[in-house]
Amino acid sequence: MQTKSAARNIFYGGSLFFLFLLIALVAHSHFYITGTSTDESTLSAEVLRGKKVWEHNACIDCHTILGEGAYFAPELGNACNRMDGDDEKFVMSDGKQAIMDWIEAQPTGTPGRRQMPNFNLSKEDLSAVASFLCWTTTIKTKGWPPKESG
Ligand code: HEC
Repeated sequence: MQTKSAARNIFYGGSLFFLFLLIALVAHSHFYITGTSTDESTLSAEVLRGKKVWEHNACIDCHTILGEGAYFAPELGNACNRMDGDDEKFVMSDGKQAIMDWIEAQPTGTPGRRQMPNFNLSKEDLSAVASFLCWTTTIKTKGWPPKESG
């Protein structure tokens, strides 16, 4: 038989334990990524413009970016890295050019492949959205996405 006071102790003890756990996890989340995950000094006007282009054209309706979005098309959080060629070392400008070329070449019309529409972006918007995606690749995400393919 459990006494009233034993039940109360379990209640208070349990509550305190989980309250402590919550505080510890919140504190841990602040130190999880050493330093900040993003470098504000690299947030150029072009990157900010690219984010607007990204939003205005609803790229997220088909794509995910760092896991957020729709699952119709590839993850783009690491697209700049993935698309910069076979080099071991990530070259941001190569990735940026590859993304711009890709967007301009859509749709491919390849049978059996999902198609991406052409957005008829201006040169400035095209460059900006590619810069935004390349900036996203520099965010410290603790290795997310887990695979190069996203
Ligand atoms: C209607 C859905 C759709 C929308 C909206 C869309 N895409 Fe795509 N995108 C795709 C599909 C599908 C693919 C993959 C096609 C393939 O592999 O042949 C793709 C591929 C890509 C790739 C190449 C990724 C890789 O790893 O090969 C990039 C970069 C890209 N999209 C950027 C964008 C940007 C930037 C926008 C917004 C301006 C956008 N997409 C909007 C459907 C979409």
